[in-house]
Amino acid sequence: MTDSVFQRCIQPQCAGTLALDDISFVCPKCGGLLDVAYDWNRLPVPKSLREFESKWSQRTDPLCFSGVWRFRELLPFAPAKGVLTIGEGQTILQRADTVANYAGMKAGTLFLQYEGMNPSGSFKDNGMTAAFTHARMVGARRAACASTGNTSASLAVFCSATALMRAIIFIGSGRISYGKLAQALDHGALTIQIAGDFDDAMLRVREVAGKLGIYLVNSINPFRLEGQKTIMYRVLESLAWEVPDWIVVPGGNLGNMSSFGKAFAELHELGLIARVPRLAVINAAGADTFYQLFERNGLRWNGGGLDAAKIDGYYRALDAEHIRAATLASAIEINRPVNLSKALRALDRCGGVVDEVSDQEMLDAKAKVGAGGLGCEPASAASVAGLRRLRQAGVIDPSERVVCILTGHQLKDPTATVAYHSSDPKTFDEVLGHRGVRRANFANRAVQVRNELDEIIKAIEVYA
Ligand code: F0G
Repeated sequence: MTDSVFQRCIQPQCAGTLALDDISFVCPKCGGLLDVAYDWNRLPVPKSLREFESKWSQRTDPLCFSGVWRFRELLPFAPAKGVLTIGEGQTILQRADTVANYAGMKAGTLFLQYEGMNPSGSFKDNGMTAAFTHARMVGARRAACASTGNTSASLAVFCSATALMRAIIFIGSGRISYGKLAQALDHGALTIQIAGDFDDAMLRVREVAGKLGIYLVNSINPFRLEGQKTIMYRVLESLAWEVPDWIVVPGGNLGNMSSFGKAFAELHELGLIARVPRLAVINAAGADTFYQLFERNGLRWNGGGLDAAKIDGYYRALDAEHIRAATLASAIEINRPVNLSKALRALDRCGGVVDEVSDQEMLDAKAKVGAGGLGCEPASAASVAGLRRLRQAGVIDPSERVVCILTGHQLKDPTATVAYHSSDPKTFDEVLGHRGVRRANFANRAVQVRNELDEIIKAIEVYA
């Protein structure tokens, strides 16, 4: 297995390789990002995606139950007995006609992939099970991440459920939602709050992990992205293996985007799909590095020869003007995405686009998603808000088949949700006003009544 699986620099001009058990997660030759690379000719590959359907009948085996590992042949970096799973990836793809109507799509065209059903409440568990499997292969005892909440919750849950490693999480002070902090604390993670934001915490955790030899589980870890490929396999499975026209996903550190691009490129290369879908990544307007670089500054993958001066210049300008990422969608409040070059490659492979949405648009879209039956956090609703914009701009056609990824659960940022629906203007303003949110276009306000039977009955007759 070791010969047919290794780590490889994503820059074709460099193509530096590393052994499977290396945990530096950067190319030793050029400092670039790494892929987990497979010599597919020497590995057993399914002849058709339909072969995966038989796994469900064997689901008493944890590897067939897991929504990640039942696709094990497409991420074959570990022997079956080495896999660490906690039952992640039991998610649904739901047809969403009312949301489609809101986004300007025809009925029957829009599907929402709901990753909030994962054990820790977000898509991160898909990647964490793969990272933990790799961590066990290399004998790691401590794992760390920088996080705005979901990665840390996932790491903490996996540490407590598997007892494999001790969790160390870096968070920016005041930058983590209570729901997620609660998970980190309850599940026993060592929580380090540093003065600064996610971008600061990310830089720091890489430094500390390198110095202390701690296993890093942020999405710069290519094994995490192997696990996240399975989100796309489950989407295809739910669509009876038909490739949709578009996948729309929120963009923060751009791990998902990169992982989805790799998943489709591999499936295509292996002859398991006839065409790849187009990818759309949606930034928050207050954290829109990728949008600015790709759509406004024309930055492209360019066969790996991307224009580093353009990126450096952009970051220098951010620093000079003291611009920090600022959005209430905490999960994507990131201005220095670590997977930038991988994401450019994904857009290149899949004919992708980038757009940005305001906090107002995200919260309105989130309320529509909620009214349609699924609960997601603000960052996740960027996908639906982004679809609406791309539809209005004529980039996406109303009859194309679209899958929006709802990356995380509604209970992550309840403060924003409750403020949006609040009938108290002060609460609304305090939480949302400074974010530029002016109206709750789809608010469902609680009704205040005196504690009297007649009043209560009257209110119900009026409103329900
Ligand atoms: N959606 C949710 C719910 C997230 O938690 C994140 C990232 C993203 C989208 C962005 O994903 O990096 O693949 O573009 N959350 C990180 C965290 C920052 O710490 O939990 P990406």
